Amino acid sequence: MVRVMQIDNPWDVHDYDFPVEESEEHKLLFMLNYAVLAPSGHNTQPWKFKVEGDKVLVFADRARALAVIDPDDRELVMSCGAATFHLWVAARRFGYNATVSLLPDPQDADLIAVVSLGGRQEPTLNENKLFEAIFHRRTNRLPFKPQDIPISDLESLASAVEAEGAMLDVITGSEKRKLAELIAEGDRIQGGDKRFRRELAAWIHPSRSQSRDGIPGYSAGVRDITSYAGPFMVRTFDWGEGRAARDLELADGSPALLVISTAGDDQMNWLKAGMALDHLLLLAHDYRLSASYLNQPIEVEHLRQSVGELITQGRVPQCILRMGYGRDLKRTPRRPVSEVLIP
Ligand SMILES: Cc1cc2nc3c(=O)[nH]c(=O)nc-3n(C[C@H](O)[C@H](O)[C@H](O)COP(=O)(O)O)c2cc1C
Repeated sequence: MVRVMQIDNPWDVHDYDFPVEESEEHKLLFMLNYAVLAPSGHNTQPWKFKVEGDKVLVFADRARALAVIDPDDRELVMSCGAATFHLWVAARRFGYNATVSLLPDPQDADLIAVVSLGGRQEPTLNENKLFEAIFHRRTNRLPFKPQDIPISDLESLASAVEAEGAMLDVITGSEKRKLAELIAEGDRIQGGDKRFRRELAAWIHPSRSQSRDGIPGYSAGVRDITSYAGPFMVRTFDWGEGRAARDLELADGSPALLVISTAGDDQMNWLKAGMALDHLLLLAHDYRLSASYLNQPIEVEHLRQSVGELITQGRVPQCILRMGYGRDLKRTPRRPVSEVLIP
């Protein structure tokens, strides 16, 4: 096995350190520092990687599953799709015509994808922009400015989602209200569920925590001092009604709500949805747009059906985002590549 390039914090990776003279395995190990910067549900980072010659095998790490909010590992697989897309973008940035093969082994459901380096090919301007966005993309849970998003930008985002095999519905104006009410209903159900609260609390950390995963208080818009009480509050009280009121306001006040959907509802579709989500988020950053998630009605089965009927016309909803112009935020922690590498 080749030695892992020791970058303790993957956010500290620099493209000028790319090991040009080294083997393809070394190059891929270096690129994994970008893959792990992808978003993931509760920042669980539920992935593992194995480097074999000029390929990376991307595995789902189901030990990091969220049994209550995500009993079928749907969002877990989407998160692995996002990491796979990040890795592909990095490979393109460093001049490889990389290819991605999704679920290549029908006998191994944990093998999510194989990314192969391929021959040399210069990245396009747009691919370089996606790469730059890897460092700046954040989940932004704060309110957005009341400023409309240009239609042409929304159309480009929809094309990015379609390029990965999923679909995008964009909801603006008064149409947002119906979806916002389903989101609020999801909040009430989840906030009233002790098991849901306990699971979420386990992944929320005080802002100054040294933890390499989970959601730090600052990322949820909580001040440093208050963040120490966060896990206790989340675990103990039924905050469903309060969250519902806040999310109604956030949804109403955001220029657009976006729903990513797929034709079916199996691992392949979840994977495509995850790649589409990541493509959308990176491109959105290039347009200086921020996003955060309002997935609650997708995580409650009967509400998911309502979203399908109301918004996605029978296609299966996989992710709900609100989008707009927000302010810059601190980044959330990541585990080093050495922790997610299969020797
Ligand atoms: C598939 C998926 C589902 C997510 N669902 C939610 C959600 O329902 N609510 C939320 O606040 N964040 C959600 N997130 C965002 C993660 O919490 C976030 O990506 C993670 O904390 C890392 O932070 P970052 O995106 O700022 O890097 C989701 C992310 C992914 C990839």
